[in-house]
Amino acid sequence: MNAMRDAKHALRHTANLRQFGERIRSEREARGYSLGELANALRVTKGYLSRLERAKAAPSRRITDLIAAILRLDAGRLHLLAGHLPNDVAQILYDHPTEAPLMLREAFAGYGAAPSQHAPSPQANRGMARKLTPGLALGHLYELVNDDCMQWLKHRPDNSIHAIVTDPPYGLKEYTEEEQAKRRQGRGGVWRIPPTLGGHTRRPLPRFTVLTATERRELREFSGKWAELAFRVLVPGGHVFIATNPLVSHLVCIAVEEVGFEKRAEVVRLVQTLRGGDRPKNAHDEFQMVTVMPRSAWEPWLLFRKPCEGRVQDNLRKWGTGGLRRTSLERPFCDVIPSAPARGAERDISSHPSLKPQAFMRQVVYASLPLGEGVVLDPFAGSGSTVAAATALGYRSIGIELDPGFYQMARKAVPRLAALPFNGNGRTFTTARVPVRQDGLFP
Ligand SMILES: C[S@@+](CC[C@H](N)C(=O)[O-])C[C@H]1O[C@@H](n2cnc3c(N)ncnc32)[C@H](O)[C@@H]1O
Repeated sequence: MNAMRDAKHALRHTANLRQFGERIRSEREARGYSLGELANALRVTKGYLSRLERAKAAPSRRITDLIAAILRLDAGRLHLLAGHLPNDVAQILYDHPTEAPLMLREAFAGYGAAPSQHAPSPQANRGMARKLTPGLALGHLYELVNDDCMQWLKHRPDNSIHAIVTDPPYGLKEYTEEEQAKRRQGRGGVWRIPPTLGGHTRRPLPRFTVLTATERRELREFSGKWAELAFRVLVPGGHVFIATNPLVSHLVCIAVEEVGFEKRAEVVRLVQTLRGGDRPKNAHDEFQMVTVMPRSAWEPWLLFRKPCEGRVQDNLRKWGTGGLRRTSLERPFCDVIPSAPARGAERDISSHPSLKPQAFMRQVVYASLPLGEGVVLDPFAGSGSTVAAATALGYRSIGIELDPGFYQMARKAVPRLAALPFNGNGRTFTTARVPVRQDGLFP
């Protein structure tokens, strides 16, 4: 049985190498390079390149990357043909040797090859999933719940969450049924449709300048209420990342600090939003050189920590928390993160008005578990960008969403968002972490 499977794998590998060689030759010829010219650029002999093109030799990762760069081809696809894992996939498997293969097997059950001799049996896998994620849906890394997070948090056991990454409603009104109806109609309320830009209709944004003193007080109370409930369920040393807005962040910050959290930083998401920068309404011509508010180019993410038990090292040993995961051995997590808005592919998956981009979310979620172990919670999950980021990283997570429509959206969106490749500076962040190994498994 095993011999048959090995023979099948060998055949597939040979067929892939043949495709690799044919692809290189046709792309080289299409660009008008001779064998010698490309060999020179690669710093290999003509004979070796010719062997690659005839599938008589297997390329190394370095050569595959060079070929992809010179011929401007998709490196991930070339690596697969050459029999290597693409860097980001290799990184995920390396970081999550248990969960990542488990997820792949589950996602493609029935489509993939027979389980390898060394893989745990499906029964063992199921047992592992149960052990890994008590209370979570069988075999999955994440759970989505349609509930009021205040109620959910009340019933959650003490010290059972390791990090919170969330984007709560900034003003309490924008997600009420009334305001959502106004948003859908595109008229009035807290949702403002920004002026058309270059012929494109822009997405609605909530307007926080219209919050009254009472609404500001309510926002502070609301933030204190969920933060207090979150404090109990979070383990000592657990971090909380909260997306806010420059107009209301001070209210959220004071409320969260007052329940006992330590403020640790403000992470700056450098993003060109369409907030501010407009001339006075209906008086554009009269006051051409006036902007009513600055055009916003950043989004504050408040960062808090539940106090540690003893020293950070003690807390790390006992609870697995207390610090942030470094981007790499050389680079700590930094508090300024350049970030583009969510890419088109993400917008096609989720139409949530406050969708956060995976490139940014994956960096923040990655940092939230210093040892890569534990459960990440998003009590205001929306369409699930935190949960998707956690899943892409192989972290366990839970998302709570009150609105049934957004909850259904998240159910569909999470697996699709999580399957998207790393992009933007999120890509640098993952590939930069690929460790050099001598056994040939990774580059
Ligand atoms: C700013 S949005 C989050 C969007 C999310 N970051 C995304 O990328 O899709 C906040 C979400 O919190 C939800 N929400 C508001 N109050 C809630 C509550 N008490 N419990 C759970 N969810 C709530 C809203 O319906 C909304 O979808």
